Amino acid sequence: MKQHTYEFAYEVYDDITQLTPSDAALLEQARAVTAKAYAPYSKFNVGAAALLANGEILLGTNQENASYPVGICAERVLLGTAATLHPDIAITAMAISFNTAKEKSNHPISPCGMCRQSLLEYETRFKHPIRLIMGGMEGAIHVVKAARQLLPFAFTSEELI
Ligand code: THU
Repeated sequence: MKQHTYEFAYEVYDDITQLTPSDAALLEQARAVTAKAYAPYSKFNVGAAALLANGEILLGTNQENASYPVGICAERVLLGTAATLHPDIAITAMAISFNTAKEKSNHPISPCGMCRQSLLEYETRFKHPIRLIMGGMEGAIHVVKAARQLLPFAFTSEELI
């Protein structure tokens, strides 16, 4: 038996003032767009903002449904929008934030497992890492250099050849 270890580095910032101007601007947009989420069931509003390689910024929010499993996370709404509007342009960074009356939005959230799988597909398809900037409406922020770091042992298209 051999023991293997999976490690990855991530950055921790105390608040938005410590981010680069580009990351801060993206997180501001993710925070602002939480107001447009459709989350009447969970009341957990999620906002996501993607920076494209051409400099354009696109936004997404979670869209829930009375049939709960039909709901879609903000990140996957955004990936679908980006791929539809710009099928040839990579996403270089995505900021994710949330807002809810139930708890203070003062810590980072990270993408759910399904979104991690979708982000990985997008990185592979566009041959470009997606820098993730994860925060709440205030407080600490986590940054990872590539979404794939959040999904070790991922199932990929290589298995399907
Ligand atoms: N949600 C997202 O939009 N993104 C995430 O990364 C985690 C969860 C949404 C799904 C659902 O509408 C609500 O948050 C509560 O789970």
